[in-house]
Amino acid sequence: MTISIIGSGKVGASIALNCGLRELDSKINLVDIIEGLPQGEAMDINHQLSVQGLDSDLIGTNDFSVVRDSKIVILVAGVGRKPGMTRMDLLKTNASIVKDVATKISQHNKNAILIVVTNPLDPMTYLALKTTKYPKNKVMGMGGMLDLSRFASFIHEYTKLSRESISAMVISEHGEKMLPLIRFSSISGIPLNNFINENQSNEIYEKTKQVAAEVIKLKGATVYAPGNAVATMTEAIIKDKKSVIPLSAYLEGEFGVNDVCIGVPAVVGKDGIEKIVELPLNDFERQEFEKGIQNVREAISSLPL
Ligand code: 2OP
Repeated sequence: MTISIIGSGKVGASIALNCGLRELDSKINLVDIIEGLPQGEAMDINHQLSVQGLDSDLIGTNDFSVVRDSKIVILVAGVGRKPGMTRMDLLKTNASIVKDVATKISQHNKNAILIVVTNPLDPMTYLALKTTKYPKNKVMGMGGMLDLSRFASFIHEYTKLSRESISAMVISEHGEKMLPLIRFSSISGIPLNNFINENQSNEIYEKTKQVAAEVIKLKGATVYAPGNAVATMTEAIIKDKKSVIPLSAYLEGEFGVNDVCIGVPAVVGKDGIEKIVELPLNDFERQEFEKGIQNVREAISSLPL
């Protein structure tokens, strides 16, 4: 079994479904401490995949030790954001869960690639890296891929052009200081400013940062887009695609930054993070990026490391 998903709440189940829809492995583990929940989710997903003729079997279990055979472990355990909360409000509660789960993962498996999904994403990725002591290329956080799905959605809404033609990039903190990069986004390679004016691009920039809170206010959680974003990263690893994906990575000198996990574009393949792609940021982008780093550093300083 190549993939284990730890945490089978709404997002964990959505990840499992999206991995199954892409047939990323013949068997996918869905793990949780809550008895019955992963088993029930696995059954429900298997029923769907069955009539779609898709050969990924979901295995629901409360037994953590199944991670020992996995190449990819997805850590989504923890509590989610409630209406009115920022991602950082979850720091204390989720830090103890992530530390505990990451400890167990590394006890059972020394060689996995870990994708962290629990919020606040960048500090939790850092905590998981330090706890598992995995090499830095094998621990990544899912944030930018989700943020860019929202950015791309607004670009489509404003330009009315095909979603297929849109390429969007969002870096920095998966949080209040996320940084949608207008200059590094395009429509079929043509820079965005050929299609939208400055006011529109400012609006899209702000909306991209706020929209998760709006979804949470309306329906209590974000579910489908995160599930798809994690499946995209998982697929890039399993198929050794060398996809360029923004993700939370541990930086050691890249972008002139040290000892922090933060969203940056990276080449993702069979070894996990195979390369970090540095960008020539302008003054505004650099200033905003620094604010994101600052937020994450502050959070990291209070972690139980
Ligand atoms: C999201 O952006 C809440 O971080 C989660 O959907």
